[in-house]
Amino acid sequence: MDQDKIKKLRQEIRHHDRKYYVEDQPEITDSEYDRLYRELEKFEKQFPSLVTPDSPTQRIAGEPLKEFKQVAHRVPMLSLENAYSPEELLEFEKRIHRNLKPREVVEYVIELKIDGVAINLEYERGVFIHGSTRGDGVKGDDITVNLKTIKSLPLYLENGEGIYLLEVRGEVYIDRKGFEKLNKEKSRNGDALMANPRNAAAGSLKLLDPREVAKRPLNLFVHGIGHREGINWPTHYSALEALKHMGFRVSPFIKVVRNMKDAVKVCKEWEEKREKLGFEVDGLVIKVNQFTQQGVLGSTTKSPRWAIAYKFQSKQATTQLKDIEVQVGRTGTLTPVAILKPVELSGSTISRATLHNEDEIKRKDIRIGDRVILEKGGEVIPKVVKVVESVRTGKEKVFAMPGHCPVCSSAVIKEEGEVATRCENVRCPAQVERRIRHFASRNAMDIDGLGDAIISQLVERGMVRDYTDLYSLDKKSIADIERMAEKSAQNLIEAIVRSKETTFARFIFALGIRHVGIHAAEVLGARFRTMEKLSHSSLEELEAIPEIGPTMAQSIFRFFRSKDTSKVLARFKKAGIKIAVSKVTKAQKFGGLKFVLTGSLDGFTRGEAERLIEKLGGKVSSSVSKKTDYVVAGHDPGSKLDRARKLRIKTLSEKEFKALWK
Ligand code: IVH
Repeated sequence: MDQDKIKKLRQEIRHHDRKYYVEDQPEITDSEYDRLYRELEKFEKQFPSLVTPDSPTQRIAGEPLKEFKQVAHRVPMLSLENAYSPEELLEFEKRIHRNLKPREVVEYVIELKIDGVAINLEYERGVFIHGSTRGDGVKGDDITVNLKTIKSLPLYLENGEGIYLLEVRGEVYIDRKGFEKLNKEKSRNGDALMANPRNAAAGSLKLLDPREVAKRPLNLFVHGIGHREGINWPTHYSALEALKHMGFRVSPFIKVVRNMKDAVKVCKEWEEKREKLGFEVDGLVIKVNQFTQQGVLGSTTKSPRWAIAYKFQSKQATTQLKDIEVQVGRTGTLTPVAILKPVELSGSTISRATLHNEDEIKRKDIRIGDRVILEKGGEVIPKVVKVVESVRTGKEKVFAMPGHCPVCSSAVIKEEGEVATRCENVRCPAQVERRIRHFASRNAMDIDGLGDAIISQLVERGMVRDYTDLYSLDKKSIADIERMAEKSAQNLIEAIVRSKETTFARFIFALGIRHVGIHAAEVLGARFRTMEKLSHSSLEELEAIPEIGPTMAQSIFRFFRSKDTSKVLARFKKAGIKIAVSKVTKAQKFGGLKFVLTGSLDGFTRGEAERLIEKLGGKVSSSVSKKTDYVVAGHDPGSKLDRARKLRIKTLSEKEFKALWK
C-alpha cells in the first residue's frame, strides 16, 4: 500500500519535473509542487527502505568526494572535424558520396553546436546509473552525483524498462542569464570572474561537493546516442525524437535537409541569429541521418566520417594594451585589468578587459604596449586571446604583480597551488564592507539589524574603518544614517553590545581567516580555548590537528603573525569582547579520537602512552584504518606509518603528540 503510494507520488513529481524543467510548460504552481515534494520526503523518511536512487529526492547526494573515479566509455567519445566555410562543407559532402554507392540519397540532420561540456549518460533498464565527462575520449571522470543535481536530467526514462542499456550523449551548459548572475555574485563577493559560460559549466562539474554543484545554474541538452542494447532506431532524427519522448531535453531547432546546399543555407541563417539565443553556440553540427550510412562511413580514430562541425567566425578585434591596472576585489583578490586603446567589437566600445591573474598573463606572454587580439562571444566580457608578436618594437614592458596591495599597501600572498594573489589584511579598505558583513552574520557574531545597506553607509561615512570600529558606535551617530529610525538605531546598538558575549568558535569564525569555516573555528576553539594560546600557536601545532589541513594551518599562522591582526585583537579586547570558554575537562580532550602507536617513544613506555590516551578520553587500537585519527610514530616505526601515509592519516612525532594535550 505504502509502496504504491510512494510510487505514485514519484511518478507525479517526475511528470511535473519534466513539464517544468524539460518542456518549460508547468502545469501546477510552485507551492503545489512543493507540497508533493514534501509529502514524498515525509514518506521516505518514514520508510527509508523504500528510497530508490532514482527518486526525485535523491538529486543531491550526501558527502563531498575526495576525487572522481575514472570510467571507460563503452563507445569512445570522438570529437568532430571542423569546417570554417561553405566550401569545406561541400567538400565534406563529396567525400561522403565517394564512400557510399553512386547516387545514393543522403539526408543530413543539422543541430546547434552547444558550447558546453560533453558528457555521457548511462541508463540501465531506464534508470540513470552513471554519468561521465568526455575526458580523453576513451575514459573520463565519473561525475554521476554532480549530474544528478541537474533537474532536467531524467533519473528515470519514460517507458524505459525494456531498454537494457542506453548511452546518451549531450552537453552540459550554463545559459547567458545564469552565467551573468553567477558572475555578478562572484563580483559581489570580490572573487575572480569566470571567463565564459563554458568555463563556468566545466568548473561547476569539477566541484567535488554535489551540494555546491546544485547551486550552479547547470542545464543539459542531449544530441545523440552511444552504445545501446535492446533497442535501435533507423535514423539519428528518430533517435532524437525517441529521446524526447523518454523525457530528455533534446537540443532545439533541429532540421533535416536532403543535400549540403540546403545545409549551407541553414548555417548562414544561424550566423546572424545565434546571438539571440539564450545560450552560447559555437557553430552547427551536420550529421548523416541514416544509421546504416553512418555505419558504412565509419570513423577515424579522432572523429566520425559522417558528421562535421560548421564553426562560426568568432568576433575579434585588435588594439593596443596601454597599461595593466591591478584591482582589489572584495575578498582581497588582486585582478589585473587590461587598459586598452578603445576599440569597436560587435557593437560595443571596449576599453578594459580582465586578464584574470598573473599566470594567465605569463602563459600568454602579454606585455604592456603590446598589440593584442580581443575576442567576444555573445555577451561575454571580452578577453585578450593573444599578442601579435610580429609587431613588437622591443619597448614593451613585462608586467609583474605588485608585492603589495594597491589599496592598503600590505604585503600580498599567493598560496601554493593557487593562481590568485590576495591581500589578507583585515583592515584593507577594499575588503572592509565584506569583512563586516561576514563578522555580523548569523554564524559569526550574529548582529541583528546590521544589513548591507547600513554597512555601506557606515563605511562610506568613515564611521567604521574595520570591524572593531563597530564597538565604538553610539546611538546618536547611527541615527544620523539615512532612513534609520531612532528605535532601530537603539536596537542595533543593543545587538552590537549583545554580540560582545559570544563563544570562542564564533569569534574565530567572525575574524574571517581565509579557509577557516565554522567547523574549523569550532575545532580551533576546543583545541586552544583562549585567544592568547591560539594567536601564539606554532605552525607545527596547527598542522598536528587532524581537521586542519596544511593550507589552513598556514593561513591561520599567517593571520596571527600580521601586525594588523594584533592591532585588531587588541582593540577587541579593549572593546570588552567576552568569550565564553566551554568547560572542556582534560578527560574530554581526546574525546572520541582514535590513536595508533608505532615505534618506541622516549618519554613513555607503550603502556604508559596507551593509558594516558585513554585517560584523556581517546582510544588506542593496534591497526591503522580509515577511522584512525592519529598515528603517533616514535623511533623505528613499523609498516603502520606507511599505511598511515597511504591513507593520508595525520602522523605525529612524540613532540607533536605531547603538544596535543599540553
Ligand atoms: S555530435 C562524434 N552534436 O561538440 C561526436 N556534438 O567536437 C559527436 N557538441 O565534444 C558529437 N553540440 O560535445 C554533437 N549537437 C551536437 C553538439 C555537439 C555540442 C559538442 C560535443 C563534442 C564537440 C565536438
